[in-house]
Amino acid sequence: MTVWTLAYRALVRPVLFRRDAEDAHLWAMARLASARSSLDMVEALLGPPDDSLSVSVAGLRFRSPIGLAAGLDKHGEAPHAWPALGFGFYELGTITPRPQAGNPRPRVFRLVDDAALINRFGFNSLGAASVAAHLRGQSRRAGVPQGINVGKNRDTPPEAAAADHRAVIDLLGPFADYFVVNVSSPNTAGLRALQSPERIEALVRDAVDAARGVPVFVKLAPDWDTPEDLDATARAVVNGGAAGLIVSNTTLSREGVESSPQAGETGGLSGRPLKDRALAALVRVRAAIGPSIPMIGVGGIESAEDAWARLEAGASLVQVYTALVYQGPGLAHALNAGLAARCAREGLTSIADLTRRWGSQTA
Ligand SMILES: Cc1cc2nc3c(=O)[nH]c(=O)nc-3n(C[C@H](O)[C@H](O)[C@H](O)COP(=O)(O)O)c2cc1C
Repeated sequence: MTVWTLAYRALVRPVLFRRDAEDAHLWAMARLASARSSLDMVEALLGPPDDSLSVSVAGLRFRSPIGLAAGLDKHGEAPHAWPALGFGFYELGTITPRPQAGNPRPRVFRLVDDAALINRFGFNSLGAASVAAHLRGQSRRAGVPQGINVGKNRDTPPEAAAADHRAVIDLLGPFADYFVVNVSSPNTAGLRALQSPERIEALVRDAVDAARGVPVFVKLAPDWDTPEDLDATARAVVNGGAAGLIVSNTTLSREGVESSPQAGETGGLSGRPLKDRALAALVRVRAAIGPSIPMIGVGGIESAEDAWARLEAGASLVQVYTALVYQGPGLAHALNAGLAARCAREGLTSIADLTRRWGSQTA
């Protein structure tokens, strides 16, 4: 554990965790949004990720395979913060075409003993036009791609989902290094039904067409009736022309947290209890689609060893969310340092030596 993580856990987290989880999130986001000069200082102090962590995926260069998962910066309020904190990429959103409030509060809960969260935000979004206003004039960082995660509005019927995706893609195209079609949130009624092979293939085709050459990823759930259903959906995503898959979103399962007082809350579970399920889904998808299509592994990653295991199992890149809440803003730097040290221990000159077989190459 680094000194930053220790300081966060001893000094900052106890104060934050006394607040409602969403209030704490809003407070932290407001600090990050307004803290440009302190973030510049932090970045200067900690330095960039080691050169050995540079990878190239879907035609983009990433200075580290450690990314920020969707849902933390939903409205593009602090895009300058993520490179400064050591991330190699970050995903804004989920963004819907029209603004919507999401579910009533409270809608996010901490399961502290399990290092987990349950959330049922339900795509609270300021809408694509507001996000475009936040991002206009922003200077983007070379080697730190900015992803835009796209979802349909709650009151849009499933058969019109493609038009919603297209509306966001059209408006936010100038700001996207890659897009993500999110059909795997458990908090919008009927959304996951769009993952059926027939529907997803058509949706992907449409999004790829709208994105005009910007790579499109599709984010999948970890919950499937049968493993064969997951295989069929993953293959349909590839057939639709996606650049890659993100595995996975939060789970509806409560396996491993049954005794938590919060386990009965409706919503998607993330963090440590999701780790094995998300890894198993990644392995399954890798076997189904073969080695050439890139995947981003996400779900329960909280250490460099977890990240390494995901890269070994079929991911070219990984993302974190819940571990950031529990370990604080030094997490990406700690994961970068751990991955670089592991590369050195394994005698690899580059992390790309590990991920190259998954359709990526050294930058
Ligand atoms: C509070 C919260 C909000 C989230 N919102 C989104 C979202 O808007 N879109 C999305 O694709 N995933 C969202 N996610 C899912 C994360 O991106 C990630 O897939 C999931 O949490 C598993 O990673 P983790 O265990 O590192 O948190 C959210 C997760 C959390 C905890």
